[in-house]
Amino acid sequence: MHNKINSLFSHLWQDYLTITPSAKKVHDLLEGYESEHSGKPSKLVNDHIALRTLNIEKINLDKLAAHFLALGYSEKGQYAFVEKKLRAKHFEHTDDTYPKVFISELIVEEMPLDIQQIILKITDNISDDAALLDNFLYSGTHWQVSPQEYELLVAHSEYAAWMSAWGFRANHFTVSLNHMGHFQSLAQVNTLLKNEGFILNSSGGEIKGGPQVLLAQSSTMADKIEVEFSNGKKLIPSCFYEFAQRYKMPTGELYQGFVAASADKIFESTNS
Ligand code: NI
Repeated sequence: MHNKINSLFSHLWQDYLTITPSAKKVHDLLEGYESEHSGKPSKLVNDHIALRTLNIEKINLDKLAAHFLALGYSEKGQYAFVEKKLRAKHFEHTDDTYPKVFISELIVEEMPLDIQQIILKITDNISDDAALLDNFLYSGTHWQVSPQEYELLVAHSEYAAWMSAWGFRANHFTVSLNHMGHFQSLAQVNTLLKNEGFILNSSGGEIKGGPQVLLAQSSTMADKIEVEFSNGKKLIPSCFYEFAQRYKMPTGELYQGFVAASADKIFESTNS
Protein backbone atom coordinates (compact mmCIF):
# COMPACT_ATOMS: atom_id res chain seq x y z
CA MET A 1 0.00 0.00 0.00
CA HIS A 2 2.61 2.57 1.04
CA ASN A 3 4.87 1.69 -1.89
CA LYS A 4 1.91 2.13 -4.22
CA ILE A 5 1.06 5.55 -2.78
CA ASN A 6 4.65 6.75 -2.95
CA SER A 7 4.96 5.44 -6.49
CA LEU A 8 1.78 7.24 -7.60
CA PHE A 9 2.89 10.58 -6.14
CA SER A 10 6.35 10.13 -7.59
CA HIS A 11 4.91 9.55 -11.08
CA LEU A 12 2.58 12.55 -10.68
CA TRP A 13 5.50 14.74 -9.52
CA GLN A 14 7.82 13.72 -12.35
CA ASP A 15 5.09 14.27 -14.95
CA TYR A 16 4.24 17.66 -13.40
CA LEU A 17 7.88 18.80 -13.51
CA THR A 18 8.19 18.00 -17.23
CA ILE A 19 5.70 20.78 -18.00
CA THR A 20 6.37 22.98 -14.93
CA PRO A 21 10.11 23.70 -14.89
CA SER A 22 9.63 26.63 -12.49
CA ALA A 23 8.26 24.27 -9.82
CA LYS A 24 11.60 22.45 -9.67
CA LYS A 25 13.43 25.78 -9.27
CA VAL A 26 11.06 26.95 -6.52
CA HIS A 27 11.23 23.56 -4.80
CA ASP A 28 15.03 23.58 -4.75
CA LEU A 29 15.16 27.22 -3.65
CA LEU A 30 12.81 26.66 -0.68
CA GLU A 31 14.41 23.34 0.29
CA GLY A 32 17.82 25.01 0.14
CA TYR A 33 16.69 27.76 2.55
CA GLU A 34 15.16 25.19 4.88
CA SER A 35 18.28 23.00 4.95
CA GLU A 36 20.59 25.98 5.42
CA HIS A 37 18.53 27.26 8.33
CA SER A 38 18.18 23.98 10.20
CA GLY A 39 21.71 22.81 9.45
CA LYS A 40 20.42 19.43 8.32
CA PRO A 41 18.95 18.29 5.00
CA SER A 42 15.26 19.02 5.15
CA LYS A 43 12.55 17.89 2.74
CA LEU A 44 9.51 19.90 1.74
CA VAL A 45 6.16 18.32 2.65
CA ASN A 46 3.13 18.51 0.34
CA ASP A 47 -0.10 19.81 1.84
CA HIS A 48 -2.12 18.64 -1.14
CA ILE A 49 -2.14 18.00 -4.85
CA ALA A 50 -4.95 18.92 -7.23
CA LEU A 51 -6.37 17.10 -10.24
CA ARG A 52 -8.92 18.29 -12.79
CA THR A 53 -11.44 16.48 -14.97
CA LEU A 54 -14.78 16.73 -16.81
CA ASN A 55 -18.05 15.24 -15.53
CA ILE A 56 -18.23 12.83 -18.47
CA GLU A 57 -19.17 9.52 -16.84
CA LYS A 58 -16.18 7.39 -17.89
CA ILE A 59 -13.61 9.99 -16.71
CA ASN A 60 -15.48 11.92 -14.00
CA LEU A 61 -14.38 13.00 -10.53
CA ASP A 62 -15.44 9.68 -9.01
CA LYS A 63 -13.31 7.74 -11.51
CA LEU A 64 -10.22 9.72 -10.50
CA ALA A 65 -11.13 9.46 -6.83
CA ALA A 66 -11.42 5.66 -7.07
CA HIS A 67 -7.61 5.45 -7.42
CA PHE A 68 -7.16 7.21 -4.08
CA LEU A 69 -10.00 5.40 -2.29
CA ALA A 70 -8.28 2.12 -3.23
CA LEU A 71 -5.12 3.42 -1.50
CA GLY A 72 -6.81 4.21 1.81
CA TYR A 73 -8.06 7.75 1.17
CA SER A 74 -11.58 8.85 2.08
CA GLU A 75 -13.80 11.74 1.05
CA LYS A 76 -13.75 14.65 3.52
CA GLY A 77 -15.29 17.70 1.85
CA GLN A 78 -17.37 18.97 -1.07
CA TYR A 79 -17.16 22.36 -2.77
CA ALA A 80 -19.15 24.21 -5.46
CA PHE A 81 -17.89 26.91 -7.83
CA VAL A 82 -21.07 28.21 -9.45
CA GLU A 83 -19.53 30.89 -11.68
CA LYS A 84 -16.85 28.58 -13.08
CA LYS A 85 -19.34 25.67 -13.39
CA LEU A 86 -17.15 23.39 -11.30
CA ARG A 87 -17.57 21.13 -8.34
CA ALA A 88 -14.87 19.52 -6.22
CA LYS A 89 -14.18 17.08 -3.42
CA HIS A 90 -11.19 16.62 -1.18
CA PHE A 91 -9.76 13.38 0.14
CA GLU A 92 -7.52 12.56 3.09
CA HIS A 93 -5.50 9.49 4.00
CA THR A 94 -5.63 7.95 7.48
CA ASP A 95 -1.85 8.44 7.50
CA ASP A 96 -1.68 12.24 7.51
CA THR A 97 1.91 12.29 6.22
CA TYR A 98 0.36 11.73 2.77
CA PRO A 99 -0.84 14.81 0.91
CA LYS A 100 -4.53 15.61 0.75
CA VAL A 101 -6.04 15.29 -2.74
CA PHE A 102 -8.35 17.94 -4.24
CA ILE A 103 -10.25 16.80 -7.35
CA SER A 104 -12.51 19.10 -9.37
CA GLU A 105 -14.70 18.51 -12.43
CA LEU A 106 -16.31 20.78 -15.03
CA ILE A 107 -20.10 20.48 -15.23
CA VAL A 108 -20.17 20.05 -18.99
CA GLU A 109 -23.96 20.35 -19.46
CA GLU A 110 -23.81 23.92 -18.07
CA MET A 111 -21.45 25.02 -20.87
CA PRO A 112 -22.71 26.61 -24.14
CA LEU A 113 -23.59 24.03 -26.82
CA ASP A 114 -20.53 24.67 -29.02
CA ILE A 115 -18.27 24.05 -26.00
CA GLN A 116 -20.17 20.88 -25.12
CA GLN A 117 -19.69 19.67 -28.70
CA ILE A 118 -15.90 20.08 -28.54
CA ILE A 119 -15.77 18.28 -25.19
CA LEU A 120 -17.96 15.41 -26.38
CA LYS A 121 -15.87 15.08 -29.53
CA ILE A 122 -12.53 14.84 -27.70
CA THR A 123 -13.80 12.46 -25.03
CA ASP A 124 -15.80 10.25 -27.40
CA ASN A 125 -12.92 7.89 -28.27
CA ILE A 126 -11.71 7.27 -24.72
CA SER A 127 -12.41 3.65 -23.87
CA ASP A 128 -14.83 2.95 -21.02
CA ASP A 129 -12.09 1.37 -18.91
CA ALA A 130 -9.32 3.92 -19.59
CA ALA A 131 -9.79 5.47 -16.15
CA LEU A 132 -9.14 2.12 -14.49
CA LEU A 133 -5.54 1.88 -15.67
CA ASP A 134 -2.83 2.44 -13.05
CA ASN A 135 -1.25 5.29 -15.03
CA PHE A 136 -4.53 7.07 -15.85
CA LEU A 137 -3.97 9.90 -13.34
CA TYR A 138 -0.85 11.01 -15.23
CA SER A 139 -1.81 9.88 -18.74
CA GLY A 140 -2.19 13.43 -20.15
CA THR A 141 -4.52 13.99 -23.09
CA HIS A 142 -6.25 11.14 -24.96
CA TRP A 143 -7.11 13.50 -27.85
CA GLN A 144 -5.93 16.57 -29.74
CA VAL A 145 -7.74 19.88 -30.24
CA SER A 146 -7.01 22.57 -32.81
CA PRO A 147 -5.71 26.01 -31.72
CA GLN A 148 -9.10 27.41 -32.80
CA GLU A 149 -10.98 24.98 -30.56
CA TYR A 150 -8.59 25.79 -27.71
CA GLU A 151 -9.28 29.53 -28.13
CA LEU A 152 -13.03 28.94 -28.17
CA LEU A 153 -12.72 26.98 -24.93
CA VAL A 154 -10.56 29.74 -23.36
CA ALA A 155 -13.29 32.29 -24.16
CA HIS A 156 -15.88 30.34 -22.14
CA SER A 157 -13.88 28.36 -19.59
CA GLU A 158 -10.14 28.61 -18.88
CA TYR A 159 -10.60 25.33 -17.01
CA ALA A 160 -12.04 23.52 -20.06
CA ALA A 161 -9.22 24.92 -22.21
CA TRP A 162 -6.61 23.68 -19.72
CA MET A 163 -8.15 20.21 -19.72
CA SER A 164 -8.21 20.13 -23.53
CA ALA A 165 -4.49 20.88 -23.71
CA TRP A 166 -3.13 18.96 -20.71
CA GLY A 167 -5.60 16.20 -19.82
CA PHE A 168 -5.06 13.99 -16.79
CA ARG A 169 -2.12 14.94 -14.55
CA ALA A 170 -1.42 16.91 -11.38
CA ASN A 171 -2.54 20.50 -11.92
CA HIS A 172 -0.45 21.64 -8.95
CA PHE A 173 1.50 20.50 -5.95
CA THR A 174 1.29 22.51 -2.73
CA VAL A 175 4.07 23.08 -0.21
CA SER A 176 2.97 22.91 3.45
CA LEU A 177 4.21 25.95 5.42
CA ASN A 178 3.28 24.14 8.64
CA HIS A 179 6.14 21.70 8.02
CA MET A 180 8.75 24.41 7.42
CA GLY A 181 11.22 25.76 9.94
CA HIS A 182 12.73 28.83 8.31
CA PHE A 183 9.58 30.17 6.66
CA GLN A 184 6.91 31.23 9.14
CA SER A 185 4.48 32.97 6.81
CA LEU A 186 3.26 32.99 3.22
CA ALA A 187 4.26 36.65 2.95
CA GLN A 188 7.89 35.61 3.61
CA VAL A 189 7.73 32.93 0.87
CA ASN A 190 6.03 35.31 -1.55
CA THR A 191 8.65 38.03 -1.02
CA LEU A 192 11.50 35.60 -1.71
CA LEU A 193 9.82 34.25 -4.86
CA LYS A 194 9.11 37.75 -6.21
CA ASN A 195 12.71 38.79 -5.50
CA GLU A 196 13.83 35.75 -7.50
CA GLY A 197 11.62 36.81 -10.43
CA PHE A 198 8.73 34.35 -10.08
CA ILE A 199 5.26 35.65 -10.92
CA LEU A 200 2.54 35.14 -8.30
CA ASN A 201 -1.19 34.83 -8.83
CA SER A 202 -2.59 38.14 -7.54
CA SER A 203 -6.26 37.48 -8.32
CA GLY A 204 -8.08 38.29 -5.06
CA GLY A 205 -4.74 39.35 -3.51
CA GLU A 206 -1.49 37.39 -3.39
CA ILE A 207 -2.62 35.63 -0.20
CA LYS A 208 -6.03 34.01 -0.37
CA GLY A 209 -7.79 33.43 2.97
CA GLY A 210 -5.91 33.67 6.27
CA PRO A 211 -6.30 32.85 9.98
CA GLN A 212 -9.99 33.92 9.91
CA VAL A 213 -10.84 30.99 7.58
CA LEU A 214 -8.08 28.74 9.05
CA LEU A 215 -6.25 28.41 5.70
CA ALA A 216 -3.99 30.82 3.80
CA GLN A 217 -2.88 30.03 0.24
CA SER A 218 -0.74 31.61 -2.45
CA SER A 219 0.56 30.34 -5.78
CA THR A 220 2.77 31.08 -8.74
CA MET A 221 1.21 31.79 -12.13
CA ALA A 222 1.45 28.72 -14.38
CA ASP A 223 4.50 28.29 -16.62
CA LYS A 224 4.01 28.89 -20.35
CA ILE A 225 4.81 25.79 -22.42
CA GLU A 226 4.59 25.13 -26.14
CA VAL A 227 1.93 22.56 -27.01
CA GLU A 228 1.52 20.67 -30.28
CA PHE A 229 -2.10 21.11 -31.33
CA SER A 230 -3.76 19.26 -34.21
CA ASN A 231 -2.58 21.88 -36.70
CA GLY A 232 0.10 24.05 -35.17
CA LYS A 233 1.94 24.89 -31.98
CA LYS A 234 0.92 27.35 -29.30
CA LEU A 235 2.49 28.72 -26.10
CA ILE A 236 -0.04 28.24 -23.29
CA PRO A 237 -0.23 28.06 -19.45
CA SER A 238 0.67 24.63 -17.99
CA CYS A 239 0.84 24.08 -14.22
CA PHE A 240 1.70 26.12 -11.12
CA TYR A 241 3.05 25.66 -7.59
CA GLU A 242 1.02 26.47 -4.48
CA PHE A 243 1.89 27.27 -0.84
CA ALA A 244 -0.48 26.68 2.07
CA GLN A 245 -0.50 27.54 5.76
CA ARG A 246 -3.11 25.97 8.04
CA TYR A 247 -4.31 27.31 11.38
CA LYS A 248 -5.60 25.62 14.52
CA MET A 249 -9.31 25.10 15.15
CA PRO A 250 -10.74 25.71 18.66
CA THR A 251 -10.09 21.98 19.28
CA GLY A 252 -6.37 22.67 18.93
CA GLU A 253 -6.10 20.62 15.74
CA LEU A 254 -5.08 22.10 12.40
CA TYR A 255 -7.94 22.74 9.99
CA GLN A 256 -7.66 20.23 7.12
CA GLY A 257 -10.42 21.41 4.77
CA PHE A 258 -10.41 23.85 1.86
CA VAL A 259 -11.99 27.29 1.42
CA ALA A 260 -14.13 27.61 -1.71
CA ALA A 261 -13.64 31.39 -2.07
CA SER A 262 -9.85 30.92 -2.04
CA ALA A 263 -9.84 27.86 -4.32
CA ASP A 264 -11.97 29.84 -6.77
CA LYS A 265 -9.09 32.33 -7.16
CA ILE A 266 -6.38 29.64 -7.16
CA PHE A 267 -8.05 28.09 -10.25
CA GLU A 268 -7.10 31.33 -12.07
CA SER A 269 -3.39 30.51 -11.76
CA THR A 270 -3.73 28.78 -15.15
CA ASN A 271 -5.49 31.70 -16.87
CA SER A 272 -3.91 32.76 -20.16
NI1 NI B 1 -4.51 23.75 -4.25
